[in-house]
Amino acid sequence: MAWHVNILTLFPEMFPGMLGHSLAGRALERGDWRYDALNIRDFAQDVHKTVDDTPYGGGAGMVMRPDVIEKVLLSIESPGRKIYLSPRGKPLDQALVKTLSAAPVLTLLCGRYEGVDQRLLDAQGFEEISIGDYVLSGGEPAALILMDACIRLLPGVMGNEATPDEESFADNLLEYPHYTRPAAWVSGDGATHLVPEILQSGHHEKIRQWRREQALKITQERRPDLLTKK
Ligand code: ADE
Repeated sequence: MAWHVNILTLFPEMFPGMLGHSLAGRALERGDWRYDALNIRDFAQDVHKTVDDTPYGGGAGMVMRPDVIEKVLLSIESPGRKIYLSPRGKPLDQALVKTLSAAPVLTLLCGRYEGVDQRLLDAQGFEEISIGDYVLSGGEPAALILMDACIRLLPGVMGNEATPDEESFADNLLEYPHYTRPAAWVSGDGATHLVPEILQSGHHEKIRQWRREQALKITQERRPDLLTKK
């Protein structure tokens, strides 16, 4: 059974977007995953197709109505894990991505404006997930990123490309540096840049060790928080 994502959005035309290309796009064509982008506005009950209203207690912006979103959810036969994309959510990391790509069905709620009425999130048992400590104009780009990270882990999607166990975050380490030909590259300013000798030695055990050291060093320099994680 194909991995299935329901997306609740005011902008269904944003999907599949970038996920229609390259690796994810080919996987979509093969039927390794599928999606339904549901337009929240189609479920509005009044002639004006109202999906939002002013916040109780005052303040800027508009809040998405719980009754309209509930109607969308009721139209979904089996919603699986319900996720609301929000900067207040649990930070998305590779461990969470793994569990999401292993779930048969996800339902992603993309907010716009100031967000969604809290009662809907509570009543429907939404998990909140954030893709990082910055604020997007809506949940759609966050949904696309979450999906991209999951799709490449689906069985058969990666083919011969990088093996998921060797890449960044597989063991909470950033990846070692990569090199390809030419072995001696002369850049535009006339400087010669050599590939580290060890990588041309053919000594697989030493190369493995060197890469591990490089991964540790770069993680220590850039993301020491990862070294104390879990
Ligand atoms: N919506 C707006 N900003 C977001 C973020 N950082 N992560 C997830 N959803 C969002």
